[in-house]
Amino acid sequence: MKAVAVFPKQREVRVIDAPEPRLQAPTQVKVRTREVGVCGTDKDILQFLYGTPPPGSEYLIPGHECLGEVVEVGDAVRGLQRGDFVVPRVRRPCPHATCPACRHGHPDFCVTGDYTERGIKEAHGFCAEHFVEDVAYLHRVTPELREVAVLTEPLTIAEKSLREVKRIQERLPWKPGPGRAVVLGAGPVGQLGAMALLRQGYATTVYSRSPKPNVKAEAAEAVGAPYLSSKEVSPEELVRQAGAPDVIYEATGTAKASFEALRALGHNGVFVFTGLPSHAEPLSLDGAALLKQLVLENQVVLGTVNAADSDFEAALEDLGRFRARWPGGLERLITARHPPEDFADVVTGRKGGGGIKHVITFGGGTR
Ligand code: BGC
Repeated sequence: MKAVAVFPKQREVRVIDAPEPRLQAPTQVKVRTREVGVCGTDKDILQFLYGTPPPGSEYLIPGHECLGEVVEVGDAVRGLQRGDFVVPRVRRPCPHATCPACRHGHPDFCVTGDYTERGIKEAHGFCAEHFVEDVAYLHRVTPELREVAVLTEPLTIAEKSLREVKRIQERLPWKPGPGRAVVLGAGPVGQLGAMALLRQGYATTVYSRSPKPNVKAEAAEAVGAPYLSSKEVSPEELVRQAGAPDVIYEATGTAKASFEALRALGHNGVFVFTGLPSHAEPLSLDGAALLKQLVLENQVVLGTVNAADSDFEAALEDLGRFRARWPGGLERLITARHPPEDFADVVTGRKGGGGIKHVITFGGGTR
């Protein structure tokens, strides 16, 4: 079958004819890939900065944001049948009996680091015509959501972190109303994070680099999140214009912009880091002033990665709500669809550069 393959040793990326995967256990499902979203992690993998092939393989099939169609189910599979559309989760548990997270069904909190991630770490991903997966890692997609369900995985990042923010804010001795939020970065994770925050009632501002007008600003404002450019508005001015945020949701993966924006966080606020920087980014900051702010203002800085079963279910429900509330809002996040042969050019921005989310299609996409 056709698959995209990244060869880290040879520093090569090409479309190959990979072995067709087969069911090997009665709980497995064979899926025909329809769409794969590309993101910053794929860019790092393509630049050989991140990602590891499965043991014994000289290549890694990338792709972790996926929508596919069930073509075959094992005898013990319940709840899925041929023709159903599904979204797979990314991370699989480590093998260690001592890992409380993995043993409790939460590899997203794995403490050993020996988890695997499809398309990223020691397991092939979904940028291939077919893949096989255990039914436990697949989420059924209702037909109405097919056009946008490739956005499920990046939305799970917001689902997990906002669930954590809610728990953290339960520390406050009163019930805080939905307050103000600032989203840093206007890529797919930022845009979907803004929608999730808006849905929870936060007055949400998107704060990103490029000055208006641009497509990212238009997408944010179309769903009711004002957009401000960090080139034009300082963090202090942001607070003057939008008020001090109770939540800052970082989706840039850049250290300098993030720590600068941290200055804007309000009393008792939570700053959520979701981005993974690709390169070293030395910066100087007044550490004492930062510590003073965190302590005197009861602030929490939270890092979050990956997502659990329940976050995928929540994301699929939210996609339905977002569609009803903002018709066309999700669709406009998908800038373009491309064939697998263009994977490398799309990921590195040589093709279709700009826009928000680029998607690779297999087998006719969602149609
Ligand atoms: C993926 C996560 C993954 C993380 C670290 C992100 O791009 O969305 O599922 O855990 O990279 O590898």
